[in-house]
Amino acid sequence: MPEKIRITAIGGSLEPVSSTKALMELAIKELTSLGAEVNVFDIKDLELPFFRYQAVRGKNAGKIVELLSAIRTADGFLFASPEYHGTISGAFKNVLDYLEYLSKDEPPYITGKPAGLIAVAGAESAGSGTLNAMMNIVHSLRGIVVPGSIAVGSAGSLAGNGGDRSSDQLKRRLKRLCLELYRLSGKLK
Ligand SMILES: Cc1cc2nc3c(=O)[nH]c(=O)nc-3n(C[C@H](O)[C@H](O)[C@H](O)COP(=O)(O)O)c2cc1C
Repeated sequence: MPEKIRITAIGGSLEPVSSTKALMELAIKELTSLGAEVNVFDIKDLELPFFRYQAVRGKNAGKIVELLSAIRTADGFLFASPEYHGTISGAFKNVLDYLEYLSKDEPPYITGKPAGLIAVAGAESAGSGTLNAMMNIVHSLRGIVVPGSIAVGSAGSLAGNGGDRSSDQLKRRLKRLCLELYRLSGKLK
């Protein structure tokens, strides 16, 4: 049997109820139904201290090693961040800062691997600044942005009160993103 496509998903917020996490979970469900094996890192559960090079020697070493191993072995990525003041959240960026440990890998960072992006904002037409910031990060990590990456506005009501409240249109956009991410990850494997 051929090996499964491996996707590493990183995202969410530090809030107990998170729209970003809710959308990430919908995408993970879709990726799993396509046949992917998804390794999930919820920002809130990771509880990583601010990045510094010595962090890997501290008490979080186990979590950091696990995260880096899931990034090294992934065929593709799903990144999901809330919009804070027009850009990604500090907590999300802090986790991505840990990818600096991959700078001396050969090839470095996430070279040549696709990343599907979800930016989640509170205001109606917001999110594009955050999506752009995420695209810039993926490019600087030498990855490939999946074209169907999405910015979602009016996200405040998407989580809580018994689960999934996303519109059919949003579900279609998420499905397309997942299909593109899955197919690209397989082609570039
Ligand atoms: C510190 C902070 C800054 C925010 N800045 C923006 C913003 O610039 N534009 C916007 O549309 N929403 C903004 N929001 C709203 C969040 O993007 C929105 O509530 C999002 O759903 C939060 O994600 P979460 O539910 O996963 O925590 C901000 C929220 C916080 C807490």
